[in-house]
Amino acid sequence: MDPSLPKITKILLSTEAIQNRVTELAEQINRDYQEVDHLILVGILRGAFIFVADLARQLKVTHSVDFMALASYERNISSGEVRILLDLREPIHDQHVLIVEDILDSGETLNYLYRNLIERKPASIRTCVLVKKQRGAINSQVQVDYLGFEIPNVWVVGYGLDYANYYRTLPYIAEMEIP
Ligand code: IMP
Ligand code: MG
Repeated sequence: MDPSLPKITKILLSTEAIQNRVTELAEQINRDYQEVDHLILVGILRGAFIFVADLARQLKVTHSVDFMALASYERNISSGEVRILLDLREPIHDQHVLIVEDILDSGETLNYLYRNLIERKPASIRTCVLVKKQRGAINSQVQVDYLGFEIPNVWVVGYGLDYANYYRTLPYIAEMEIP
């Protein structure tokens, strides 16, 4: 591993804590969508790929999984400028949609996504976010319907979350010493 990479300082969410919480979220989603024929999970790449995989495998409601990839133009400036790198394969018109996102920081990504998907006139749209930072979503107009954890305003990695594309596949969520 590159020795100049910032180090992990502590584990915030253990593998067991994450697994237990994902199970609880799946149970909640199963209850809420009992009456629904089909649900489309929209996983946000790349960060949410592990969360979607774990969550989806515990869902009883009939579902399909689709993905979008988004990028913020200027991450640190929180300009609200987000662009789509990869769009959904399937139309969501008249479909029930659940957005599955790894982390909510400023909330810009989720705002953009929500506004974009609502224009496609889904039957319903809800959001499921694994972690939200405490300062989280100061700019967010979007409600989080299913939230895993609230964490302090630190940079975290693991369970899909990265630092410069490193640390994504750690089985827990850990705090980093920067940025
Ligand atoms: P937002 O638009 O500011 O809410 O930022 C959300 C996006 O930034 C997330 O989907 C992540 O991809 C990325 N992000 C924000 N905070 C972190 C973090 O602590 N670790 C890894 N990625 C993060
Ligand atoms: Mg993300």
